[in-house]
Amino acid sequence: MKVSSFGYTYIMNDFCILPELCNFSCDYCIYSNATVEQKSIPYKISKYYDKSGDNIEFFDYVANVLMNSTQCFPTPILRICGGELFLLKNIMYLLRKIHEKFETVQIISNGFFLTPYILSEIKELGNCVLHISLDGHTQELNAHRVHSSYQQEIILNNINHIIKLGIPLEIASCLTDRNTKDYEEVVKFFNDIEGDILLLPFPVRGKGSEMFVPSKQDQKQLFKILERYDLYSKVLPPIKYVESLMNYYENGYRNIKCYIPKAIVQTFYNGDIYSCCMDWSVRVANINSQNRKEIIEQIQKNRIYNIYDMFPPKLRSCRECFTVSEIINLYFEGKISDKELCNMQLFSGKTTLKMMNELRKEIIKNVK
Ligand SMILES: C[S@@+](CC[C@H](N)C(=O)[O-])C[C@H]1O[C@@H](n2cnc3c(N)ncnc32)[C@H](O)[C@@H]1O
Ligand code: SF4
Repeated sequence: MKVSSFGYTYIMNDFCILPELCNFSCDYCIYSNATVEQKSIPYKISKYYDKSGDNIEFFDYVANVLMNSTQCFPTPILRICGGELFLLKNIMYLLRKIHEKFETVQIISNGFFLTPYILSEIKELGNCVLHISLDGHTQELNAHRVHSSYQQEIILNNINHIIKLGIPLEIASCLTDRNTKDYEEVVKFFNDIEGDILLLPFPVRGKGSEMFVPSKQDQKQLFKILERYDLYSKVLPPIKYVESLMNYYENGYRNIKCYIPKAIVQTFYNGDIYSCCMDWSVRVANINSQNRKEIIEQIQKNRIYNIYDMFPPKLRSCRECFTVSEIINLYFEGKISDKELCNMQLFSGKTTLKMMNELRKEIIKNVK
C-alpha cells in the first residue's frame, strides 16, 4: 500500500454500526449523548434474543457501505464497533463477510454476548483482536458498567474463554471514581494470568465526564503503577503511554499533539464520514453520495482540520481527549519504538507496521 498524499491514506477505518443499540447502559457512555445525525434505514433490526429476523439484508447493505469506504480509503486495520455489536443477531455473518479485506480487525464489545460458540468462530477468522471494555475484575470496580454480579460473572467467564482460545485481547478501562484508586489490583489480576492480554486505561471524556474524575488521592494511587512498571510490563501498554496518561492527570488536560484525524478515518454504517473518530461533531462527507475526489475536496476545505492541528489544543473535546489511540500519536512522535508497536497485536501486521512507519514520516514532515 502506498502513502499517496498527506492525510488521505489512513491506518485504520473506525467503522460504527447502530451506536444507539446496546444491552448495557453504562453511566458514562458517550454514545448515549452522541450528536451523530442518524439517517433512518429501511431495515428491521433483530436482536440477539429475537426469534424472527436474521439481519442478512441489513448486513449486506452494511458490508457494501464498508467496501465502498474501503475502496475509497484502503486501510490495513478495521476497528468495528456498535452500540453493542453482539446484540445484533447474526453479527458473525457480517464479520465473516468482511474480515478478509483487512490485515487486522479489532472488534469492540462489552463482552456480554461472547459465548464459547461465537468466540470459536471469531478465532477461526484468524485476524481478529478483541477489545473488551471492562473497568475492573470485580463488580465494585466495574460498577459504572454493570449493575449485577450476574453480568460481571458472565463477562469474566467470557474473557477467560477468550484467553484460553488464544484470541488477542485488549481490555479497555475507563478510569473513574470507582476503579482508579485500585486499578493496580486490576493490573495484578491480569498480570497473573497467562495469555495475550493488553490493558488500556484512559479517562472518561465528553459531556458530564466531570462526575467521574478520580480524586487527586486516587490518581496518586494510580501513579504507583508507573513506579512498578517493570513488574507489570507484560500487560501494560508501552511505558510512554502510561507516562502520558499520568501527565494528563497531573496537568488536567492533554499537552501532546494529536494526529488521530490524519491517521484514522471515522465512517458509519449509513456512509457518513466524520472528521474525527473521537469527536463526532462534524460530518464531512458521505461515502454513498460522493466519489473519492469529492470526499477529499470536502476534507481539504473543512476548517475543522486546521483547528485539530492547533497546539495547544483549541477545542475542549481535544483538550479532554486521551484515548487508546494515543498509541498512534506517541509512535508518530517517536516515543514508542517499532518493537513496542510490534508487541501489540493490533499493530503487528506487516502492512500495518510498514504504513505506520511511512505515515509517521509523511505526517511529521508536513506538520513541522
Ligand atoms: C461506546 S463503547 C461501544 C462498544 C461496546 N458497547 C463497549 O462497551 O465496548 C466503545 C468504547 O467507548 C468507551 N466509552 C464509552 N463512553 C465513554 C466516555 N464517556 N469516555 C471515554 N470512553 C468511553 C467504552 O468504555 C468502550 O471502551
Ligand atoms: S456497553 Fe458500550 S455502548 Fe453500551 S452503554 Fe456501555 S459503553 Fe455504551
